[in-house]
Amino acid sequence: MTRRRAVYPGSFDPLHNGHLDLIERCLSLFDEVIVAVLQNDHKKALFSSAERVEMIGEQLAPFPTCRVERFSGLLVDFVEKEGACCVVRGLRAVSDFEYEFQMALMNKRLNPRVETLFMMPKEDYTFVSSRTVKEVFFLGGNLDGLVPERILERLEAHRDAHGAAGG
Ligand code: PNS
Repeated sequence: MTRRRAVYPGSFDPLHNGHLDLIERCLSLFDEVIVAVLQNDHKKALFSSAERVEMIGEQLAPFPTCRVERFSGLLVDFVEKEGACCVVRGLRAVSDFEYEFQMALMNKRLNPRVETLFMMPKEDYTFVSSRTVKEVFFLGGNLDGLVPERILERLEAHRDAHGAAGG
């Protein structure tokens, strides 16, 4: 029987609980899920793609049917190479829609075999994004329940090494 494999791509700079919730729910729909971290080291990111892969890998330890990989180039090429059938993306709000719609249609045009599945986040995480997590963290706000403990430790280690600006 063919195993249904999905790719959940993103920047994940850093991973937060909204991502983790989506991964868990995705695992109930697919036999395997690959979390695909875009290698965009030229872009100003807080964590390098290698660090992000490592941090995500730690969080995926309880999920044997989920692994993390780094990718560069076209997402649809990565999906094809991994033998996956579907790209999964979270849709938090209407504001996400235009960008996601464009990306899904472009990916469909590039490779019609690849489907995109949009999933709503759990209500508790509809307002959580990597950008807001970083902003709140560096301004000293409370992120309890929004990011895994270990990711918070990595944010703290980063701040201690590089200073409060987060660059
Ligand atoms: O978490 P993000 O930054 O919204 O994720 C965006 C991502 C990684 C899914 C997107 O930038 C991507 O797929 N990049 C790979 C390049 C590509 O395939 N582009 C064509 C689709 S527009």
